Amino acid sequence: MASKILGPDIGLILKNKTPEDVARAMIESGGQKEPFYVFCIDEAYNRIQHFKKMMPRIQIFYAMKANDSDKMLKLAAGLGLGFDCASPGEINKILKLNISPLSIIFALPIKSPEWMVFARDSGIRHTTFDSINELKTIKQYWPDAKLLIRIKVDGESIYKLGEKFGCDFETEAVYLLEKAAALDLKVVGVAFHVGSACSSADSHVIGLRQAKALFDHEARAGRHMNIIDIGGGFLSDRTDRIDQVSKLINSTLGELFPDPNIQVIAEPGRYICDSSCNLYCSISNVRRVTKGEEIVNMIYLNDGLFGSLRYHEPWHTVKRFQTRGEVINENPERTILWGPSCDSTDRVMENLDIFLPRCTSLDWLVFSTQGAYTFGFASSFSCLEKPQIRSVISQELWDKIKNSTFFNSNEFTEEYDISSALPSTLPRITKTRNITGSNNTLKI
Ligand SMILES: Cc1ncc(COP(=O)(O)O)c(C=O)c1O
Repeated sequence: MASKILGPDIGLILKNKTPEDVARAMIESGGQKEPFYVFCIDEAYNRIQHFKKMMPRIQIFYAMKANDSDKMLKLAAGLGLGFDCASPGEINKILKLNISPLSIIFALPIKSPEWMVFARDSGIRHTTFDSINELKTIKQYWPDAKLLIRIKVDGESIYKLGEKFGCDFETEAVYLLEKAAALDLKVVGVAFHVGSACSSADSHVIGLRQAKALFDHEARAGRHMNIIDIGGGFLSDRTDRIDQVSKLINSTLGELFPDPNIQVIAEPGRYICDSSCNLYCSISNVRRVTKGEEIVNMIYLNDGLFGSLRYHEPWHTVKRFQTRGEVINENPERTILWGPSCDSTDRVMENLDIFLPRCTSLDWLVFSTQGAYTFGFASSFSCLEKPQIRSVISQELWDKIKNSTFFNSNEFTEEYDISSALPSTLPRITKTRNITGSNNTLKI
């Protein structure tokens, strides 16, 4: 019997089923051949609620670069979040949801004149800067922008954004504030980002102390700032990861910025969405090869480095998820994971020692915590398609959010076959007429 197909636009309302049950049913039915994500909307919702609970004073401007899937953006919009956008494409996506441009911060300190004009004409008011040249370009193309000075605050983070952005607090910040004033530009606040996946608990506090010094400088100069943007950087592997950091942030805000009229915003990305998605990949082939003294299993997957498995983080895991064939050997063996392209750099989790039970081409692997910075990075290299997403939601949560203007009433359904496959992304076979061909043809 042909398995049913259900497109990624329609999510499933789960009743007594888990996201894993959905993945298992899709795989076991044999209809799902391509790699796919299961996106648990409840998990992202719970992260947002926990963030709000732990830092009630802080307004979330979701960093959509982390996961800009339709349903993630609608959930964020439905819960009243603002958005941190970093390109005209992102701005466009948010405005198309009928969200006010005042709910967007264009949090990119270096922008081309064209991008500034696009943001200005779209009604965006707030952006960041960290250099004198940016100030001059803003003066020319977006003189009424409300500016936040981006200072460099690098914590113990995996992705040190300070290497690319942020002026030096000691040597540059005051100079830039004075230059902005001389250009008659309006600086309304201070922004920083401690780096993505930041493990030092006090980095945000350092940023807040430096922000306070700049607020004081501006006040002494008779100018007034009223926004602090503490960026993102929160670890995503556990929901309670922000508990310790949030206590430090809250007490520092109380000490340094007791005035409730000062707006405090954050731009979390990874923390909100990472744990909401798992990626399921099937195995196209397994080769056993000898490397030195050792026999190694080389597994060829249907997603890889040029797809959505580009980065691996210390908290990512890979496991055998489901097997439809005979189990050969449960003992973990050294394994190399290859992506589907012809390129030999297409090796997944290259720097990790991977041990998996011996797999066959009937097995699937599951990669956990893949909701942030994954499908957004997928390239079109070698015309490879990126994995599609099966979204799932609990009845309880759907009842809560379905009446928000952002969701259509048929966006999630309870009438479904749990094992329905996502549509194939294989191109239709082209029936060529009037073949003109090149001179080089292969011998038949
Ligand atoms: C300006 C800005 N804000 C927020 C984020 C999101 O950071 P994270 O996903 O670590 O929370 C980034 C990530 O690059 C960023 O550049």
